[in-house]
Amino acid sequence: MDGTVNGRPPGAAALATRVGSVGLHNPIMTASGTSGHGAELAEYGALDGLGAVVVKSLSVEPWPGNPAPRVHEVGAGMLNSVGLQGPGLAAWLRDDLPALHAAGARVVVSIWGRTVSDYARAAELVAAAATHATGTSSGAGAGIVALEVNVSCPNVEDRARMFAHSADATSRVMAATACGLPRWAKLSPNVPDVVEIAAGALEGGADGLTLVNTLLGLALDTESGRPVLGAGGGGLSGSAVHPVAVRAVWECRAAFPAAPIVGVGGVMTGRDAVELLQAGADAVQVGTATFRDPRAPWKVLRQLARWCDAHGTTVEGIRAQARRRAGADDAGGVGVAVAPVPATSSLKEGGRDG
Ligand SMILES: Cc1cc2nc3c(=O)[nH]c(=O)nc-3n(C[C@H](O)[C@H](O)[C@H](O)COP(=O)(O)O)c2cc1C
Repeated sequence: MDGTVNGRPPGAAALATRVGSVGLHNPIMTASGTSGHGAELAEYGALDGLGAVVVKSLSVEPWPGNPAPRVHEVGAGMLNSVGLQGPGLAAWLRDDLPALHAAGARVVVSIWGRTVSDYARAAELVAAAATHATGTSSGAGAGIVALEVNVSCPNVEDRARMFAHSADATSRVMAATACGLPRWAKLSPNVPDVVEIAAGALEGGADGLTLVNTLLGLALDTESGRPVLGAGGGGLSGSAVHPVAVRAVWECRAAFPAAPIVGVGGVMTGRDAVELLQAGADAVQVGTATFRDPRAPWKVLRQLARWCDAHGTTVEGIRAQARRRAGADDAGGVGVAVAPVPATSSLKEGGRDG
């Protein structure tokens, strides 16, 4: 299983998966914000060889982002405070989406906003591009398979509290973004109970959960005693957050046996991806690893294929096992969000702080 064909891994049938209604020929995606807005990674591998490409979060209006420095390496990971810099959705649809479409990528568009209506407008714009794709000159919107709704953003209507820190605000954003496209709520790990926020997302109409965004962190320059990053604090990502992601996926799978879940956090190897799938993810995103090696998503995919081969299993087999553990009626099929039930996982006994 070492060889590749045109940069694509072998064993394709063993790797097929689905995130709710979105069928993917393998479970490996890029993570939002770690591979640019467009086809930047195409020079390192075939974008159509990945399950999907998730673009950096976009808002309706252009946004300048935070002051430099924006990234800083820390033990077992990195801190970033990029601050959602972006060209605005109209410019992105015009300038970046066509290259992704030409590369054959299945595109997940990540959106953000500062008010509930910002999110609604962003979703409408993306859905219009996807729906009218056949009528446009480029047809580029046809490659859009889902929206990822990044709710880790300050809500200017609620004292700049993060939407993702409130089940109610998360629910309202998900309800407001109903637009015909499948929508995955990208949740923050910086909460006492991610299951409660996930319940809000699903109640608001999310078709899936993406778990997790970065952990809040801070690094100081010990000479000056001042924050290293231009914006002060930042988001911690990389290997350090992997167990946080595994736990969030595990707890949400236990609470929502049939909900579509995408796992993200510290995936450096195929084994890390397997762990997230075993915890209950239907697909996995590769983020910070791409900064060290832009070929990381393809490497993780090849290692995952080899793991499945060596263990005589398939991605579908791993998913079905996790769903059976969680008690889903339909262990392997298309996930449908169900009413939340208390997480019965053994983590409850000894695992929580406080
Ligand atoms: C530089 C950088 C920028 C990011 N930008 C976004 C973003 O725009 N939207 C988003 O939802 N997540 C963003 N993230 C979070 C990642 O998508 C991912 O959830 C997180 O980094 C954990 O995965 P990782 O450890 O594999 O990087 C960003 C992460 C990094 C490191």
